[in-house]
Amino acid sequence: MKGRVLIADDERRQRDILQMILEAEGYETTTAGNGRQALEAARASAFDIVLTDLKMPDLTGIELLSELQRAQAGQCVILMTAHGTIDSAVDAMRKGAFDYLTKPLEKDELLLVLRRAMERNQLVRENRRLKEELRTRFRLESIVGAHGSMQDVFRVVHKVAQSPSTVLIYGESGTGKELVARALHHESDRRTRPFYAVNVAALPESILEAELFGHEKGAFTGAESRKIGLFEQASGSTLFLDEVGDLKRDLQVKLLRTLQEREILRVGGTERVKVDVRIVAATNQDLDRAVREGRFREDLYYRLNVIPIALPPLRDRRTDIPLLVDHFVAKYAGGARRSVSKEALEVLIAYDWPGNVRELESVIERVLLLAETDQIAPSDLPGSVRTRVASPRGAVDLDIPEQGIDLDALEESLMLKALEKAGGNVSRAARLLGLSRRTLQYRMAKLQGATTESAAKGGDSD
Ligand SMILES: Nc1ncnc2c1ncn2[C@@H]1O[C@H](COP(=O)(O)OP(=O)(O)OP(=O)(O)O)[C@@H](O)[C@H]1O
Ligand SMILES: [Mg+2]
Repeated sequence: MKGRVLIADDERRQRDILQMILEAEGYETTTAGNGRQALEAARASAFDIVLTDLKMPDLTGIELLSELQRAQAGQCVILMTAHGTIDSAVDAMRKGAFDYLTKPLEKDELLLVLRRAMERNQLVRENRRLKEELRTRFRLESIVGAHGSMQDVFRVVHKVAQSPSTVLIYGESGTGKELVARALHHESDRRTRPFYAVNVAALPESILEAELFGHEKGAFTGAESRKIGLFEQASGSTLFLDEVGDLKRDLQVKLLRTLQEREILRVGGTERVKVDVRIVAATNQDLDRAVREGRFREDLYYRLNVIPIALPPLRDRRTDIPLLVDHFVAKYAGGARRSVSKEALEVLIAYDWPGNVRELESVIERVLLLAETDQIAPSDLPGSVRTRVASPRGAVDLDIPEQGIDLDALEESLMLKALEKAGGNVSRAARLLGLSRRTLQYRMAKLQGATTESAAKGGDSD
């Protein structure tokens, strides 16, 4: 079978002839006697090509074309017109028809056009497949996240990438805000243009203003020529405004105006320039609070917060830590066979990661560089990661009563509590106390005598 063709014509004879010719050539055909029927048939199953008469009662070929395109972008439609309706045929081409044929049809011409249409379909499919592949590769390689909260983020990214609406990404430092901003760009039609980014907090106000909006020649001392700002450069593309919460008051006003009017005024200029920029902003601040405290304009906040995306801190999605570790080991091992031992991984999972994914990434990079063995052990990990496991969360604030305390008894009861919480698993109990397994066993033994040690050993399922 060469392809599936839907033939729409209100003239019975014409339909029959077309059907005969096409079937003889190896095409599979379906016929429809009017536009409505054709539309229904096309909704019910997929056709490579829709071959339709221009003039039909109830739904013209052009209307059918628009309906089909609405239902399925890229549907290949070929129109057949009688002499004298060439104007409509040209109109149809502009509306996205693949080609048109004039009646009476020439068999050779008909078959040639169909062949070309099939070739184009093939190209479109191939192109779509390649793009899809590129996109998934980008996603899989760069953003790791199997946790539900990350899957939610991916879903939103997919859904809103195509829209020009402003996105505001929230998240602690190192949670992947810039990565998500880039993914939004790469998932949109704007991906053929470069992604533009500026860190609002990193530049002094006057420089930032010229950077964003550009300036005219002579706008201020030193402005020796006209400068095109980022908003203009990024027209047709995406502009990432990082740390937007740090934007100074004056620029907040200018940004608000730009978002509202979709045009800018270069510094020292008088002519308004239209810009088509997709703004993605990010902040690690609580902007809501900044608004309440009067540091951030409320109107700008609403303009930016059209599509909010919140990135969870790493400690709230610990199940992703093993995946991220694998990802970074692959990235930094340089092809060598390196791995992280189960024990080291447990330490990494238990740590709180105040610097989130960025901190994890740099720990893995450093450890791979410094460790002498192929398998990373807990002792290869930085001290901060090992000791902070329990201490910052467990800084228990105790009052010492007048009569004093029995430190040994307190220690013992804490160790027993930890063991209980860890379900008898000594390694895990040790981690809860910020101790090594060996130290915990040693202290237990010292306080309680040998019986406890063997009991604890027996309960350890590691
Ligand atoms: N989900 C993830 N998968 C893989 N790598 C990630 C992920 N999240 C972050 N990273 C990596 O962590 C580093 C920090 O990410 P990114 O710069 O996007 O964070 P950020 O939220 O913009 O941080 P900051 O607020 O400090 O600017 C980058 O090297 C990035 O590749
Ligand atoms: Mg960033």
